[in-house]
Amino acid sequence: MEIKVEKSLCILCRKCVKVCPSQIFSCSDEGIELNNTDSCIGCGHCVCVCGSGAVKHTLFPKEKIHEIDYAGYPSAEQVMLLCKGRRSNRAFSAEPVPVDCIRKILEAAHAAPTASNMQQVEFTVITKRENVKKISLFVVELFGKYVKILENPLLKPVLKLFFKRYYRYVPVYYRMKSEMEKGGDMVLRGATAVILIHVPEKSMFGAADGNLAYQNGSLMAESLGVSQIYTGFLCTAIRMGKGKFERSVNLPEGRKIVAGMGIGMPLFRYGSYADRKELEYTVD
Ligand SMILES: Cc1cc2nc3c(=O)[nH]c(=O)nc-3n(C[C@H](O)[C@H](O)[C@H](O)COP(=O)(O)O)c2cc1C
Repeated sequence: MEIKVEKSLCILCRKCVKVCPSQIFSCSDEGIELNNTDSCIGCGHCVCVCGSGAVKHTLFPKEKIHEIDYAGYPSAEQVMLLCKGRRSNRAFSAEPVPVDCIRKILEAAHAAPTASNMQQVEFTVITKRENVKKISLFVVELFGKYVKILENPLLKPVLKLFFKRYYRYVPVYYRMKSEMEKGGDMVLRGATAVILIHVPEKSMFGAADGNLAYQNGSLMAESLGVSQIYTGFLCTAIRMGKGKFERSVNLPEGRKIVAGMGIGMPLFRYGSYADRKELEYTVD
């Protein structure tokens, strides 16, 4: 990786100095100077703010830089409408999500910020019907094993003392199981594909990175008319499964799933959205 500032093009606006998160640029009588280029996190801010094309960065050749037409931004009202109109619509049709929609959802998710610009979030997309079904089955079977332990008459009095909070999920499991026996699915709700969002196992901000990616992806899904649900039951089962699920989907070694999105085409869209609880905030 190499960074250069072409003196002949530089107009000394100092924008690169102001935006670089690693203080690589400084300005002296000699012009812009570079320090500790090894600490570059590859965010590309320097290239993107340089209006004269003086900053050259080998990670960002011309074809990787795209002019922003701010007039093309959605208005604040449109963004607000998208944020409030996006719902977890669980009424999915059997129609598969078009491949180009999945691609756009992933592209939006991939554009989310990551801690130190690490960009270690990756995606595994499950679309084959039988594999999607296996996911729900995995969750119900795994929860079943734990419920069996929780309901063990010898262990129950002790477990209830220490793990009281888990007992509220016991009736949820029985509903899940009975729905499955009737051909329903309380885990994926009929989503036709699942996007698994994963990060390196040891990543410090992996969960934050993955979930920011999720939200970008979910807003893109909404704008495309694709429905999504956060697969919370699945994420819980993955954690409880101690690597079993990761192996079943051939997740690359050393990675952990931090979020999952069930997607599908909606049977219908909602005519309205409901307000959340009152917005609470303090300003100091
Ligand atoms: C961390 C998390 C876990 C969730 N898990 C599930 C889930 O397992 N199944 C499901 O149908 N919805 C799940 N949801 C969706 C929430 O129930 C939903 O976001 C919430 O009720 C608000 O509704 P809305 O998304 O339609 O605005 C989850 C959401 C979050 C943020």
